[in-house]
Amino acid sequence: MNERRPLIAGNWKMNGLSKEGTALAQGLANKVREVAELPADAASEVSPLVSVALPCDLLICPPFTLIDRAVAAVVGTPIAVGGQDCHPQASGAHTGDVAPEMLKDLGCGFVIVGHSERRADHLETDATVKAKAEAALRAGLTAIVCVGETEAERDAGQTEAVVTRQVKGSLPSGATPGNFVVAYEPVWAIGTGRTPTPDEAQAVHARIRVELTNLMGSAAQGVRLLYGGSVKPSNAKELMEQPDIDGALVGGASLKVADFWGIVQSYGG
Ligand code: 13P
Repeated sequence: MNERRPLIAGNWKMNGLSKEGTALAQGLANKVREVAELPADAASEVSPLVSVALPCDLLICPPFTLIDRAVAAVVGTPIAVGGQDCHPQASGAHTGDVAPEMLKDLGCGFVIVGHSERRADHLETDATVKAKAEAALRAGLTAIVCVGETEAERDAGQTEAVVTRQVKGSLPSGATPGNFVVAYEPVWAIGTGRTPTPDEAQAVHARIRVELTNLMGSAAQGVRLLYGGSVKPSNAKELMEQPDIDGALVGGASLKVADFWGIVQSYGG
C-alpha cells in the first residue's frame, strides 16, 4: 500500500544569476498554471484543487540569493520553494550562514540538509546533519535529509551499511511523514549520467524504510524517500515506478523547464 504523494524536487545547486533563475521559476510556474488551468494572475492563495490537478508535489531549491525571486515567481501555484542548507542555530555570530528561520521567513517550506557535496566540501558529519534537520523542524520547515554511498563504498559492498548508518545518525528527533523526507543519492551517480538499476535503487530504498521503521515505527510507511543522481526524463519513469521510490531530487535536469517537466510527467501529468 502506497499512499505517499510523490515529490519531485529540483536542487539548483550553485547555479543561476537573477535573470535565468527568475526565468526558470517563472517557466515552471507557467507550466503549472497551464496544467491546472489557472489564470496568469491567479491569487496568491493556492486552492487545494490546484495541487490535485498535478500528479505530484513540486519543489524548487534555488541558491539563497534567488529564493526571494523564486517565491515571487511561483506565487499562486502549488510549487514550493526550499533552501539547500541551513545553520543549526536560529541566529547569532555565524558569518555567512543562514538560519532555517530566515528561510521560513522568505517563504520556504523545505530545506535540503546533508547533501553529499556539503558532507564533502564542508566536512559535515551525521551529527551536523541531524542538528541541521532538527533546526529545520524547529523553524517549521520540512527537512530533506540526503544519504548515499561513494563509489569506493559501493565497490566494497558497503552501500547498505553506509546508508543505514547515515539514516540512523541524521534522523532528527520529532520526524514525521509531514516534516521529514529522505533523499538517497549515490555519490557516484551525481552529475555522472550513471544510475543504479531501478531494482538496485529500490533495494536501497526498501532498506532505508526498514531502518526508519526500526527508528520511528509505522510512521515510516508515510515518509517519502526520493531518489537522486542523474535523473532525467528518459530514466525517471522506471525509477519512479519502484514501490519505495516516492519521487526524485534532481540536479542538472532541474535547470531546464522542459527537462524538469519531463521528469514530472513520469507520474503521468
Ligand atoms: P544530478 O541530477 O545533476 O546528478 O544531481 C543530483 C543531485 O545531487 C541532486 O541533489
